[in-house]
Amino acid sequence: MMDMKVLVVGGGGREHAITRALSCNSDVRIFSVMARKNPGIARIAERVLLEKETNIPKIVAFAVDCGVDAAVIGPEAPLEAGIVDHLEAAEIPCVGPTRAAARLETDKAFCRRLMERHGIAGCPEYRVCHEPEEARRFIEAYGGDLAIKPIGLTGGKGVRIMGEHVDVAGAAEYIREIGGDVVLEERLIGEEFTLQAFVDGEHLVPMPLVQDHKRAYEGDVGPNTGGMGSYSLPDHMLPFVSRSDYEKALRIMEDMVAAMQDEGTPYRGILYGQFMNTCDGPKVIEFNARFGDPEAMNVLSLLSSDFSAIVRHIIEGDLSPSHVRFAHKATVCKYLVPEGYPEAPMAHEPLVLGDYGDALLYYANVEERDGKLYTLTSRTLAFVGMGETLEEAEAIAEKAASSVSGSVFHRRDIGTPELLEKRCRHMREIA
Ligand code: AMP
Ligand code: GLY
Repeated sequence: MMDMKVLVVGGGGREHAITRALSCNSDVRIFSVMARKNPGIARIAERVLLEKETNIPKIVAFAVDCGVDAAVIGPEAPLEAGIVDHLEAAEIPCVGPTRAAARLETDKAFCRRLMERHGIAGCPEYRVCHEPEEARRFIEAYGGDLAIKPIGLTGGKGVRIMGEHVDVAGAAEYIREIGGDVVLEERLIGEEFTLQAFVDGEHLVPMPLVQDHKRAYEGDVGPNTGGMGSYSLPDHMLPFVSRSDYEKALRIMEDMVAAMQDEGTPYRGILYGQFMNTCDGPKVIEFNARFGDPEAMNVLSLLSSDFSAIVRHIIEGDLSPSHVRFAHKATVCKYLVPEGYPEAPMAHEPLVLGDYGDALLYYANVEERDGKLYTLTSRTLAFVGMGETLEEAEAIAEKAASSVSGSVFHRRDIGTPELLEKRCRHMREIA
């Protein structure tokens, strides 16, 4: 095979996982654009442009200068800024949707209306509001708990759930604070799971199911975060998602891809479905137009086929399940975050790596200075343990995470059999 030059946009743990997976093929040459230097990516990439990931003219010029054959877009902000439209105008094909197709993630009202227009299953009851007063009247009249969602991007931290974070008055107050553009949705009760898929505009190939943990502290309490860690199982399923629930979720994703094609905005890239498995089956919490972070680290660590070949098939539009294989192992990913995260993170504190054994280390929001690591304000490092069983994978990830010293913490409960049992019990209770 000839060399393939791939540009990876983004500098977090997810993009380190993308870069590592691409670099498993030694014929792939990696180029990187990131806002700040991720030491893990920098060690793999042939050239790095340190630039804001939404500075499209600079990124396109760099991509052209490097002569890349393709680009993989990690985060949502450049997708919203139209990076794919501009790279493709410069004849650089992308794994990532155009600005119009990325609205599945960047405009929650668009997403719900699309589901409704195409009669796609799994859409919760919702109401789009643009005025704080209108929203307040709706909440008061509704009578039940709602999820309050800003229409645009919020880095996973913008949702407020009534009955959990806010009451009626608190919900109205929050909507006033953020200016009034919200989607109000029925509060779904159940267990969450993530289904990610490779999509070439028409065909969709699913990846293993993963469960993320949004809450900052053990036992699922505390503020919402970008995700503290995640796990997956050797059979690529989760015990609280039946085969029929899985088929329904997959069908919802396929219907979304067909709907986008139907509307003249075909979807190409990674489609991320976040579902709540309820007593009525899976409902859509949201779609993202990219890999999840941390979920990318679970699935890409397992990927046993050539990622660069998948990139090529996505671009050529002939993707099929035969191109995509994942190892039948369990994975557990644990993020270390600064003390005080997410509200008052302690930045610029030294971090010292210990012996992390067989775990994979993914760098995220850290600074490397004179060979030493320092915290910044967001998730710092992630460790992925892989094993024949969940217990084995958890032990590897936990040992690695505990070996780091510094002002950081992680959730020891992620990936433990106790937590999994709690999820299954919850699912039985609501059934
Ligand atoms: P999002 O930013 O959409 O990922 O939402 C963040 C978190 O809010 C999700 O992981 C869920 O735990 C919760 N959430 C979002 N929408 C709903 C809903 N309709 N019902 C219950 N919980 C929700
Ligand atoms: N892990 C959730 C996200 O990437 O949005």
